[in-house]
Amino acid sequence: MNILILGSGGREHALAWAVKQNPKCDRLIVAPGNAGIAQVAELADIDVLDGAAVVEFCGENAIDFVIVGPEAPLAAGVADATRAAGIVTFGPSAAAARLEASKGFTKEICDACGAPTAGYARFDTATEARAYVTRMGAPIVIKADGLAAGKGVIMGMTLDQALDGIDEIFGGAFGAAGAEVVIEEFMEGEEASFFILSDGENALPIGTAQDHKRVGDGDTGPNTGGMGAYSPAPVLTEALQRQAMEQIVLPTIREMAARGTPYQGVLYAGLMIKDGQARLVEYNCRFGDPECQVLMMRLGAQALDLMLACAEGRLDRAQVNWADDHALTVVMAANGYPGDYAKGSVINGLDALPESSTQMVFHAGTKARDGAITANGGRVLNVTARGDTLAEAHARAYAMVDAIDWPEGFCRRDIGWRAL
Ligand code: AMP
Ligand code: GLY
Repeated sequence: MNILILGSGGREHALAWAVKQNPKCDRLIVAPGNAGIAQVAELADIDVLDGAAVVEFCGENAIDFVIVGPEAPLAAGVADATRAAGIVTFGPSAAAARLEASKGFTKEICDACGAPTAGYARFDTATEARAYVTRMGAPIVIKADGLAAGKGVIMGMTLDQALDGIDEIFGGAFGAAGAEVVIEEFMEGEEASFFILSDGENALPIGTAQDHKRVGDGDTGPNTGGMGAYSPAPVLTEALQRQAMEQIVLPTIREMAARGTPYQGVLYAGLMIKDGQARLVEYNCRFGDPECQVLMMRLGAQALDLMLACAEGRLDRAQVNWADDHALTVVMAANGYPGDYAKGSVINGLDALPESSTQMVFHAGTKARDGAITANGGRVLNVTARGDTLAEAHARAYAMVDAIDWPEGFCRRDIGWRAL
């Protein structure tokens, strides 16, 4: 079959790498892709936020299956457009993607289905929000309601930080995404990510992961999109996964179906674990990046069969074949990230690294120039390895990192420390 993947990051490289290994895949196209993805797939330059353009491209290229990587095309209704055109599509409708695109909506769903989550209130004026926060006190969490590229959450560890956060959001720092705020109880505990496929009715857990959001070793410095990840997450025990399925995921999927907006795609549940209980921090309507890279390393070619079963409503008959393995990915970022950074530096040493089912360098932000691979983003490479133990995966990944010659880049040296 001919498959189109939308997106251009390490997540999409990992998806393409897994899909390509499956003999069902004939032609693989990624739009817009990057220099690493070009080594496993054809690239196409289409506007992935434009549903009509994607549908037209699918028609011209006899695409049988579309996999949508990032949240923006989902929130823009691209999966609605391709499904309406009769193309099998992995990814939720715009209505179902509101589980990520509106934090207030997710809270409303949690209330309706009884899913445990942080206590909250919603406001659309700064005056009311400030009064509420002053009454509740710190610590407290301030969130822009809409999509803000991962930056719309402000931890009010002091009352001043919380009030400043409210002013920042209503001052327009996040545009329309900040027309409303959700103010939440600060939850303590350990965070982990739980990935579930849903075909609208049935749900199938496909793995757990933990990422490292802070830029520096020892979880210090500013927040980033994620500096590394590993799977499985030992904190998410079988018992906790069962509890999360019964109390959070399945009630959500039933509630979405009951509202006439069934959820089809991967549901990424960010959970906070404390005292043996999981509460929902947030939902995302896509795979995590870089969590996807470790999940794909572990799932390999079966990822395509699972995503197809999900898109075709056959998850009740699908199952995951688990290997008792571990995967870990180290993000190499351009010096300066998550602040200002330069593009265009040359990365050497990649050609000499063997790529196999146990080690891969996924490209997150690269561009080919005169036969060289150059940095083209903040997060640039995802150096990923699999092993029988997390320690083995960790050693393999860092051996690859050390073989990459890129003075203009850096990485954390302690990915996986919680679980090692
Ligand atoms: P979100 O985009 O909602 O996942 O928020 C980004 C990050 O902020 C999460 O991964 C948590 O680390 C943190 N966070 C969000 N909400 C809360 C909360 N209610 N209590 C504590 N930490 C939170
Ligand atoms: N790594 C966090 C995310 O993808 O949202």
